[in-house]
Amino acid sequence: MSVLTKTSATSIATRQAPELAVIVPTFNEHDNVAPLVERLEVALAGINWELIFVDDNSPDGTADAAWELSRLHDNVRCIKRLGRRGLSSACAEGILSTSAPFVAVMDGDLQHDEAILPAMLAKVRAGADIAVGSRYAGGGSAGDGLSPLRLWGSNLATRLSTLVAGQELADPMSGFFMLRRDLFIDVAPQLSSEGFKILLDLVVTATRKGTPPAIAQVPYTFRQRLSGESKMSPLVVLQFLGLWLSKLTGGLLPTSFLLFALVGFSGLAIHLAVLWLLTSVAPQPFLVAQIVATITAMTWNFFINNILTYADRKLHGAKLWMGLLIFYLVCSLGGIANVSIASVIYEARAVPIVAGLAGALMSSVFNYSVTRIFTWK
Ligand code: GDD
Ligand code: MN
Repeated sequence: MSVLTKTSATSIATRQAPELAVIVPTFNEHDNVAPLVERLEVALAGINWELIFVDDNSPDGTADAAWELSRLHDNVRCIKRLGRRGLSSACAEGILSTSAPFVAVMDGDLQHDEAILPAMLAKVRAGADIAVGSRYAGGGSAGDGLSPLRLWGSNLATRLSTLVAGQELADPMSGFFMLRRDLFIDVAPQLSSEGFKILLDLVVTATRKGTPPAIAQVPYTFRQRLSGESKMSPLVVLQFLGLWLSKLTGGLLPTSFLLFALVGFSGLAIHLAVLWLLTSVAPQPFLVAQIVATITAMTWNFFINNILTYADRKLHGAKLWMGLLIFYLVCSLGGIANVSIASVIYEARAVPIVAGLAGALMSSVFNYSVTRIFTWK
């Protein structure tokens, strides 16, 4: 086309804008990025595509390896994010950085089979809103890529997802999919930035906006990781549960609030355990036991929130200790709010448990809102 031959006054040649952008989030995938580029070149021959790595400052130097590749291939680039972690937000930022009409999201560890990309492209070109690389649709397989425990968890998550998505999804947990860029732009403001499961979030958000996306499945076999290790962890599972609950409430309760509340409950268990230890096992005056239990629970809540609820803006170094101090302060004020509200409601002749719950709810909303402003900004 004419664009190819057009040159500007300073004779900088312009290339034809790509039709497909492949977005690859990476964290510690140093050894995988070069083989990935080679494989994509084979799989996407004849297609005008670009590749965008989004790296969260991997300690193994993945970004340097990716930049090295972009010096050799003018359709490869890398965005390096500092002080951030998160698969979903990395994918979102990669997609937002391209003008290609079709975008694919794919893992950087070669577990996703790049050979099905042309089939996915054919589906979206033909009008599908989203083409999902599916491990469970006919012909696909989770192969040896997943342990039995993960297979079970993945199946359960699939069933939970169908509940919130409003349509049967063969593999809603898939991290391998392609969609029209404009669909993404349309729902992007409503997506959660937390967690691993951007596809599920996309489908649910588009459906809630009144346009259930037309989804095409393209089966593939999930491969073994080439090198490095999975970042899947119990924390990721909890983050998924938070996202799921949040979607179930129609997005009314943000994922981060649900996770914060969940952490609060675990803190309560810690509090009671310490209290029991210091009153029955190694008896101390009650006041001492109560103070130690409170501080232990607050400290626990702080650190767990830091790695779970706010994994995407985790505090480190000096900010971590400052954050802990602010957290103690906010929670103490929250405690005062808790007791005051509970007493007022109790005075109004409510049953103690209702008064107690109202106080606890009040202080969790308070702690959540205030620490979002002052601790995890
Ligand atoms: N930028 C960035 N930031 N990338 C990340 C982060 C992060 O915090 N965490 C993980 N990644 C990158 C990894 O480097 C890899 O390229 C990809 O995201 C997937 O991470 P894995 O740790 O390999 O996840 P998995 O193999 O256990 O699960 C993946 O595949 C499943 C099947 O499609 C994920 O994509 C799951 O969402 C998916 O269900
Ligand atoms: Mn993987």
